[in-house]
Amino acid sequence: MDHFDVVVIGAGPGGYVAAIRAAQLGMSVCCVDAWQDEQGKPRLGGTCLNVGCIPSKALLESSEKYHEISQSLGEHGIVVEGVSLDLAKMQARKKTIVNQLTDGVAHLFRKNGISSLHGRASFVSIKNEMTTLKVTHEKNELLVQGDHVIIATGSMPRPLPVAAVDNHLILDSAGALSLHEVPGRLAIAGAGVIGLEMGSVWKRLGSEVTLIEAMPDFLPTADHQLSKEVFNVLTRDEGLQIQLDTRLEKVSRSGNQLQLLCEGKSAGVLEVDRLLVATGRMPCTEGLCLENVGLKSDMRGMIPVDDHCQTAVKSIWAIGDVVRGPMLAHKAEEEGVAVAEQIAGQKGHVSFENIPWVIYTSPEIAWAGKTEQILKDNGQAYRSGIFPLRANARAKSMGDTRGFIKILADQHTDQVLGVHIFGAQASELISEAVLAMEFGASSEDIARTVHAHPTLSEALREAALSVEKRSINY
Ligand code: FAD
Ligand code: NAI
Repeated sequence: MDHFDVVVIGAGPGGYVAAIRAAQLGMSVCCVDAWQDEQGKPRLGGTCLNVGCIPSKALLESSEKYHEISQSLGEHGIVVEGVSLDLAKMQARKKTIVNQLTDGVAHLFRKNGISSLHGRASFVSIKNEMTTLKVTHEKNELLVQGDHVIIATGSMPRPLPVAAVDNHLILDSAGALSLHEVPGRLAIAGAGVIGLEMGSVWKRLGSEVTLIEAMPDFLPTADHQLSKEVFNVLTRDEGLQIQLDTRLEKVSRSGNQLQLLCEGKSAGVLEVDRLLVATGRMPCTEGLCLENVGLKSDMRGMIPVDDHCQTAVKSIWAIGDVVRGPMLAHKAEEEGVAVAEQIAGQKGHVSFENIPWVIYTSPEIAWAGKTEQILKDNGQAYRSGIFPLRANARAKSMGDTRGFIKILADQHTDQVLGVHIFGAQASELISEAVLAMEFGASSEDIARTVHAHPTLSEALREAALSVEKRSINY
């Protein structure tokens, strides 16, 4: 039986990054992963690379270009006629990007001397802190041993009992990324992150999109001033229909159509061609046989860990979507690095307070740190600065002046506590805010930093100036 310093279960962004960092630190590493594509070929990279972050961003990018060329180049004086959609080519481009990146992970594994095993791992036993795992692929089984095990098994779509996914008429996110024709009418259960991103893709490509959201509030974890503005822009300019406070009660089929019975604020029957179920994701622990090593998942199906990602068993760690915290690729990656460093005796650490969120709508949404409602709930005194992108020269030249940047800073110390962006390239702009917060910057620090002109980042500086009520350009 092969023995390793570290065995990683799962090669998503949590697992593959942990494996590489552990190998960099001189440990012998094996990474076991079960993912395979439609042709049965093993593919590393997990949800993120295969059916998550990467394919969704590829389609968001393509659909945005299509939409821009068809709808909004006229104001630039560019006349384009005869624009048409080749969805098969768009999907093929997406697949090429996915394959290049997943092949890239396999290359990195070889480069770092990591043993890559294809199959499903389960715990067999633990003795003297040495864990034995079984790896199963089709009829083959083999055993491996590790001094340390990192569980990075990720998450999967949470089923909605009234709408069983068949990936023909009723889709999960993977199905919605692989459509080969644009649905005439697409309903989406859940106006969360996946609902908004996938809704944007198919709306831009021509679908009529209705999002059915059970909660009365839209994007309740985002800053409320921001979510209100996002709701207005996405429903008014982007044409997404968002029905809040509405629950999907029943789905019936007739031929290739679905009738959705909805209750609540927008009660009634909605007839659509496809339904995407995007009502959240749940951790993957099934078949791991956690009980064989004395572990069990909690009520939400997550593996309980401490702040350092250590489970109740000292030599077994868990990271990424399978543990508490936001289900985000960059959070999984950081936990992977931190755990590998701790196993090596270093002081790996993840700064959970400043994990950025990005939603890739048009324009984009991004935030980090505390929202205004959290600060109020905590009774923390703060000042707020806001700068609308319509007063930013670069946004004007680009032709997208929607949205704003908002900074929240401590009333007494001026330390930046939260940054909330709704606007073009928010995904790129948020990193400056995260860096500032990581270094404990004040809003004055950002305001006194020279920002190149003309850039969107000047709006961040202006928002910082606005904390002192001294914006120059607004
Ligand atoms: P995963 O990426 O889920 O990887 C887990 C791996 O473990 C998989 O390969 C799985 O097959 C394997 N596995 C599971 N059980 C076993 C087992 N017993 N044995 C062997 N292998 C096993 N996040 C962002 O930060 N930005 C985005 O833009 C973004 N977009 C997304 C878009 C969509 C449509 C979706 C669905 C998700 C998106 N996410 C995004 C979330 C992101 O994909 C996840 O947070 C991230 O993939 C979690 O990483 P992970 O390593 O924990 O797990
Ligand atoms: P989500 O939690 O973001 O949104 C789910 C939505 O569905 C919520 O608003 C919830 O109130 C609603 N809902 C729940 N049950 C419902 C029901 N029965 N009927 C109607 N609405 C219902 O989950 P989502 O969109 O599935 O995404 C899962 C996770 O994947 C995200 O939370 C995020 O962590 C990750 N992700 C991240 C992305 C990014 O970083 N850009 C992109 C896509 C996914």
